Amino acid sequence: MRITRPQAAPDLDPAAVDLADPQLYATGDPHAVWLALRERHPVWRQTLPDGRSFWSVTRYHDVNDVLRDHTRFTSERGTLLSTLAVDDPAGGKMMAASDPPTHTAMREPLSKVLSARALRRWEPRIRQMVCRLIAPLADGDAWDIAEAAADFPMAFTGTLMGLPERDWPRLTRLTTMAIAPEDGEFSEGRGTLVAAHHELFEYFADHLHATRDAADDSLVGFLRGMTVDGGRRLRQDEIVYNCYSLLLGANVTTPHAVAGTVLAFIEEPAQYARLTLDPGVVSRAVEEGLRWSSPANHFMRYTRRETELSGVRLGAGEAVVAWLGSANRDLRVFADPFTFDVARSPNRHVAFGFGPHYCVGAPLARIALRILFEEIVRHVDGFEQAGPVEHLASNFVAGIKHLPVTARLRPGAAERLAAAKAAEPHREAVP
Ligand code: HEM
Repeated sequence: MRITRPQAAPDLDPAAVDLADPQLYATGDPHAVWLALRERHPVWRQTLPDGRSFWSVTRYHDVNDVLRDHTRFTSERGTLLSTLAVDDPAGGKMMAASDPPTHTAMREPLSKVLSARALRRWEPRIRQMVCRLIAPLADGDAWDIAEAAADFPMAFTGTLMGLPERDWPRLTRLTTMAIAPEDGEFSEGRGTLVAAHHELFEYFADHLHATRDAADDSLVGFLRGMTVDGGRRLRQDEIVYNCYSLLLGANVTTPHAVAGTVLAFIEEPAQYARLTLDPGVVSRAVEEGLRWSSPANHFMRYTRRETELSGVRLGAGEAVVAWLGSANRDLRVFADPFTFDVARSPNRHVAFGFGPHYCVGAPLARIALRILFEEIVRHVDGFEQAGPVEHLASNFVAGIKHLPVTARLRPGAAERLAAAKAAEPHREAVP
């Protein structure tokens, strides 16, 4: 998605804007649209040409209310605009599409194995993968960091889930097809979304079958052994849906936090220089990169009953879309919201959501992004753009497809990176 810095709310007619249109996020100016909505129409109802309609909330506090309060706003009917008005078959079976108490029963055990503490042992492995990822910078040629970052999540989530490395490229493509079926680079015809879902679900069903007798201490194995509802094991369809959700959650978001942050560094070299002078700022810079890029654009809920948001009455059973990228620019919460500030504090961004569904993969994403930017700062003095930026056509993911860069390397970095490139990949299973 194009990340712009509008100076003032444009005078636009909201009825003339289609917030569901994937092209708005590839070539339009969503930040200007959201700013106008926050100022003049914070709770706005759009009706699509086919008659389906949804409410949009763009202010930070309304977004938090919608995501937090499952007693008023349910996740069980679907959480993405792409499923508007069609009840999600994963409702009540997949953690992300469930409400408490079903949601809590699935989430509690999973959040333990995905906690920062439990993941600490993986850090050396992730660092090694990061060094291999950035190794092409040693060549000095233009390098498409957005394309390279697309493969990054499989390196850690694929490993944690115990998925064979040969399958990673196809899984990366399928997850992008599932969230950007209209994007020319990922579309495989009219049925792209359905075909991607079908292949992913079949993949996990086959994987479960193939590994049924194996000792499996991966995340998939954990889901297989997990018990809910007073001791019942998850059914096969529940395991498949949750595998899909974990993979999608990681694959379609993390790469865009990388590319969005690097693009901000290119636009503002002084901010990158602050990191090179004080590498201790990296963790805060990661948070600002998450706020700035807000890779997950929206999540949706349905009202359970008649309710009110910012003084507007919403009927029962209506769809409400919470625009996270907009909440993360709300002046009511963030000083100078259109300024990228690597040392921003406080930084209560909602890039990982809010409330019961707060991203269960956040500790993993934070570790991976921190290690990536630590290694970038160790090797790179500055970036330059080496070609046009291309944005993903998706109303769900604020994505960058291509960002060619060249890097000025630090003394000794080329040799270290070349060695990382030549090194054998870490192949043992779980550390
Ligand atoms: C920068 C990276 C990431 C971003 C921006 C992000 C964003 C989000 C957001 C906004 C939600 C809330 C959904 C809702 O309210 O309905 C969420 C939930 C979720 N995310 Fe992430 N995510 C990231 C990385 C990951 C990773 C690495 C994983 C996998 C390990 C993951 C798996 C999930 C899952 C399974 C949920 C559902 C949690 C629940 O329903 O309790 N995400 N994510």
